[in-house]
Amino acid sequence: MNILITAIYWALPALIANGTPVILGGGTPIDFGKMWRGKRILGDGKTIRGGVAGIILGSLVGLMQGVVVLGFLLATGAILGDMIGSFFKRRLDLKRGHPFLLVDQLLFIVVALLLASLVEVPPTNVIIVILLATPMIHLGSNYIAYKLGLKKVWW
Ligand code: CTP
Ligand code: MG
Repeated sequence: MNILITAIYWALPALIANGTPVILGGGTPIDFGKMWRGKRILGDGKTIRGGVAGIILGSLVGLMQGVVVLGFLLATGAILGDMIGSFFKRRLDLKRGHPFLLVDQLLFIVVALLLASLVEVPPTNVIIVILLATPMIHLGSNYIAYKLGLKKVWW
């Protein structure tokens, strides 16, 4: 239990950054609707407002935790990782919102941890618990967002 709380606390800027766009996202897509080789670069599910709001809110969490740079890197990595996932999904011709197991739930936190490693690497056991807990937290919060009418699909 202790280690789970430690892991969630460590990853919190990334988790908040990842969840924020569901509530605050919308508007102009990051790829401005542009195509690459006949397919959208990222798709309409990745918006400028969602990305910026995620980085700001995630960084604010880091600020409150007293880890300003780490928080910013975790939040930015989460938004970047989520975009990389969508990039791969569009290359594979998966429509917006189509599930891509593990990529949807895990890539954002992997990229967040990689970017954060510029300033800090958590203990190995904390990394393992972050990687195990994040997909469940992601699916749990998506289900709540779906029930609240914020999201069209439960995953
Ligand atoms: N969102 C956003 N901006 C982002 C990321 C997400 O506005 N940078 C919003 C979008 O409304 C998106 C929702 O959050 O539909 C859920 O995010 P996600 O599941 O990552 O996107 P999907 O719609 O599933 O699109 P994709 O298939 O590209 O993952
Ligand atoms: Mg999705």
